[in-house]
This record gives sequence, structure tokens and C-alpha cells, in this order.
Amino acid sequence: MDQLGNVSLRNLFLRHVAQTSPSPPMLEVERAEGVFLYDTSSKRYFDFISGISVSNVGHRHPYVIAAIQDQLNRYLHVMVYGEFIQNPQIKLATKLANILPYPLDSVYFVNSGSEAVEGAIKLAKRITNRTEIVSFTNAYHGSSHGALSVMGNEFFKQAYRPLLPDVRILPYNKEPELEHITLRTACVIVETFQGEAGVLIPNFDWLRNLRKRCNQTGTLLILDEIQTGFGRTGTMFAFEQAKIVPDILLIAKGMGGGLPIGAFIASRNHMQHLMHDPVLGHITTFGGNALCCAAALATLEVILTENLIEHVEEKETLIRSLLIHPEILEIRGKGLLLAVEFGSVERSLAVMTNCFQLGLITDWFLFADTCLRISPPLTITLEQLREACAIFIQAIEESSTITIDSGK
Ligand SMILES: Cc1ncc(COP(=O)(O)O)c(C=O)c1O
Repeated sequence: MDQLGNVSLRNLFLRHVAQTSPSPPMLEVERAEGVFLYDTSSKRYFDFISGISVSNVGHRHPYVIAAIQDQLNRYLHVMVYGEFIQNPQIKLATKLANILPYPLDSVYFVNSGSEAVEGAIKLAKRITNRTEIVSFTNAYHGSSHGALSVMGNEFFKQAYRPLLPDVRILPYNKEPELEHITLRTACVIVETFQGEAGVLIPNFDWLRNLRKRCNQTGTLLILDEIQTGFGRTGTMFAFEQAKIVPDILLIAKGMGGGLPIGAFIASRNHMQHLMHDPVLGHITTFGGNALCCAAALATLEVILTENLIEHVEEKETLIRSLLIHPEILEIRGKGLLLAVEFGSVERSLAVMTNCFQLGLITDWFLFADTCLRISPPLTITLEQLREACAIFIQAIEESSTITIDSGK
């Protein structure tokens, strides 16, 4: 165990790093490589969650590291967003515009998913001159005030009210309720597949009808692909599977290959509203940071050149064929964003704890603590998946039900 003076890092972590739960797992990370994390005693852990859907190309992918090193030798921060021409930013925006369908060709870079949500909601209000925002039950869009306002879970919101006014929460994946989207509604914000709800895939007809309803009412459709993007569900973005195109797309997490970056993307026509009345309609110091853009461009190139998306379905099939156990009630989700349902919080937490002990990192979901998360790097090999799934099954068999204060 590492020490600073006479005090262990664990003690200093608890004393000086702000805590948000009473019992964090406190893995003392020494290094990370590919699909593995190593602690300070050199114990190896399978990363079965990719730092919550971030490390899609694995930890420290050599191509991403080389791009970061190259940019390090040129410049880091030079100016606040949108003023200077910075090569990595332009290359990344152009690449994103090229892979996205019409009319998504204008990229506003931010630092996180929540910030992308904030920017998109502001943009929708400006374009439509309306104020009502519609979101859905069990939606998770982040933790800042605007993002919290559109969260579909009162437990995590109530202590922070008043939040944004004029937010209407509709049931996810329920057809008749779409009537509540009206000429008053500025935007609908929705996760294409819900992540923190425990991975819920909606009926694609419902998503298409949602798109239609937005068209009828002049409401902007904001698709949150912050967790589902960059190949995680078997296509670059999940909306491709439903055959719809959003007015505003939100991305972050897996985008940066381990560095913090996000974006909201719309048509250039729409985005131009941020230029006037008032000018500088959305401002960020670090959004589009050159180092993060260089990492994100390299990450996107890795996903494309290594054909990572092509193998996602095969890997999902393998996981489903290996994780068969009487205690597993169901496996929900798509591609490499899966929820293993145990039907009881005691069992899911006991299995999670045992997985840790056996060298595999998994986690529960914010709004679904009876199931465990499987979202490994897309680079995981079939052999590694077999080994990781064997650990998962062993963890189920060897875990007795223990009571843990999850604190989340
Ligand atoms: C679907 C979705 N939207 C938004 C966010 C917020 O992203 P961030 O934590 O980068 O602010 C998350 C984070 O988990 C998410 O899963």
C-alpha cells in the first residue's frame, strides 16, 4: 500500500477527495492496459465496465497514446472555445460530420456528457422559442442542474428542487403518451437505449413515432448517445438501428479514449443560433481542448480501422451463451452494453463483491441495483471474454448473500 508520509493513500483519499457514497470500492489503481486494471499489489482485474462505458478502445490504446504524445509536443490549451483554428479540433469535427447522417454537420465541443445536455437544451430553446422540455421515466442525462431537471427519477432530484421549470416526464416506450408532446414543446431529450435504467431497449416503432411526433409539432429531438455511442451497442450510434436521425446528437464518454470530451451536434443552420441575440450563446474555456480532440480523433480512427464494431454482436452472443446460471433471471441490452438481472439487490451486490475479489470489475446501475453491468472494452478478445465470464459464474456460485450498504 502506497504511503504519503505516514498516512496511507486510502486514508488521504477518504479525508481529502470529496466522497459521494459511504463505501466506495477503493481499488488502488497502479496502471491500466487493454482490458485490465492492476492494483498496487499487482493484482490484475478484468475491466468489465470500461470505467462506465468510456474505454471502448481499451486502456492506453497505443494509437491513442501516440496521438496524445504527438499533441503534447505541439500545444495544449491556447484559447477558449471557438476563437482559434486548432488542427485536432477541426479534423475531429470534420470526421464526425463525415460519419454522421445529414443534417448533423456542426459540432460544439464540451468537456462532459452533462455539458452536452446543457448546451443542447439551451440550443433547442433558442431555435424554437419555446420552453417546455420533455424527457422520460428513468432517464439519466447527467448531474448538473439542467441535466438533473430532465432526469426521470425523483429520488435523486428531490433534494435539489427547484430545478428547471416546464419539464414534463413521460413514460419511456409508451405509445399513447406521445400526444403530450405539443406545439409548446421545445425539445424531447431521450436516451436511444436507456443505460442507467438497467439497459432498456425501446420498441423501434415507438422511437420512430417519437420522431414523427416531433416533426408534427416542430419539436427538436435530442438523442442522448453518451453511453450508447462509439460502437457500444453494435453500430456506431444506436439510432442507426432504429433508423431515425436526431435534430441534436449528444456524445461523450467513449469518445475520448480515456480523456474528457463531449459534444452536441446539430445542423449548421441550427447551431448558428448561438452566434446572435446574444452573441456567445454558449461558452466554455476547455471545450474542444486540443489534447482531448487529438485523443478523440485517434479513438474514432481505431474504432473504424480495427473494425471493432463488426465483432460486437459476436461478443454479445458469446457472453449470452456463457452467462447461463439459475440465478441469472435475464440478460437485457444490446451489444456490449448488458445488464445481468438477479432480481435482488442482495444477490447482485454479493456477486459484485465476489467478482472484485476474483479479479473482475462490474457495477450496478444508478436506477437498477438488482442487476450488474457488463460493458467491457470493445477490444476484448473472445478468449478474454471466456475467462471473464468464467469468473462471473464462479462469483455467483461462491458468493453467499451478504448485506452491503451500497451508498449510491
Ligand atoms: C446517457 C447518459 N447521459 C449523460 C451522462 C452524463 O455524462 P457525464 O457524467 O460525462 O456528465 C451519462 C453518464 O453516465 C449517461 O449515461
